[in-house]
Amino acid sequence: MIIDLKDLSALEQQHYLQHSIAPRPICFASTIDKEGRVNLSPFSFFNMFSTNPPIVVFSPSRRVRNNTIKHTLENVMEVPEVVINIVDYDMVQQVSLASCEYPKGANEFVKAGFTEEPATLIKPPMVKESKVKMECEVLEIKSLGTTGGAGNLVICQVIRMHIDDSLLDENKKMDQRKLQHVARLGGNWYCRVNESNLFEVEKPNVQLGIGIDALPVSIKNSKILSGNNLGQLANVHEHPVIDPAFSNDHLKQIVQYFSVNPDEMEREIHQYAKNLLEHGKVHEAWQVLLSSAG
Ligand SMILES: Cc1cc2nc3c(=O)[nH]c(=O)nc-3n(C[C@H](O)[C@H](O)[C@H](O)COP(=O)(O)O)c2cc1C
Repeated sequence: MIIDLKDLSALEQQHYLQHSIAPRPICFASTIDKEGRVNLSPFSFFNMFSTNPPIVVFSPSRRVRNNTIKHTLENVMEVPEVVINIVDYDMVQQVSLASCEYPKGANEFVKAGFTEEPATLIKPPMVKESKVKMECEVLEIKSLGTTGGAGNLVICQVIRMHIDDSLLDENKKMDQRKLQHVARLGGNWYCRVNESNLFEVEKPNVQLGIGIDALPVSIKNSKILSGNNLGQLANVHEHPVIDPAFSNDHLKQIVQYFSVNPDEMEREIHQYAKNLLEHGKVHEAWQVLLSSAG
């Protein structure tokens, strides 16, 4: 299917974009109006765009239903300050409740059962239950249109972070496994980050990877190795050579057993290399592959 966004209604555009651009982190934004009335609402059109200066942006859209603007936007236009509270799994149902369209002036801390904790540099309160909170000054608000569904970029500078000690390791660095983030996808879908679905990908930019184009043809055209496997192999910074000291019993067995059938031997070797790669053993995988690569 190919779709032109201009042919779709605002709701249809939202459907295809929100399912595709996912998962999105959630900014749980605490703001106040000029009378000091507190508002708390979640926004998944949210991300960081600069670390130095530390800039984050979220976007309260014009309501599709009646093209009015959200209370959060009205508040940051009146008082350009916001606390961005990070959402974890333990809070997600209450966060969703806070997204109800309560009347102007209703305090969603009360409606959704969160505890106000005074911020230290700005007026809006923090969410006590959130384990990471960012006190932010609003630098600029950029309207992206005047029709229902149009976003409004609220460009914020983070001036102070509050991080729960339970998220830190012994070097006072954040332990990603402890955060239990949730993120928004399309429709009612959310996802939860935890140890069972976190994985690491080695940074390629310390030294240049040799690139997929530099892989031996038999590896590059393998019917067994996937794009991910090739990406791992091509991320080495020097083309590996056969290591005479490398010895591997399973490889010996394959070579012995399949010596009469080179095609099957290559398939078995690629399968074995794939298993090694899936356990992060790139050096071993290369050595196994070099034993058969043409
Ligand atoms: C997880 C989640 C993410 C949301 N993300 C956005 C968003 O990025 N932009 C938006 O305009 N509304 C978003 N909403 C809907 C707003 O939270 C909702 O309209 C809220 O009532 C706005 O409150 P306010 O008028 O008090 O500011 C989201 C709702 C949920 C539950």
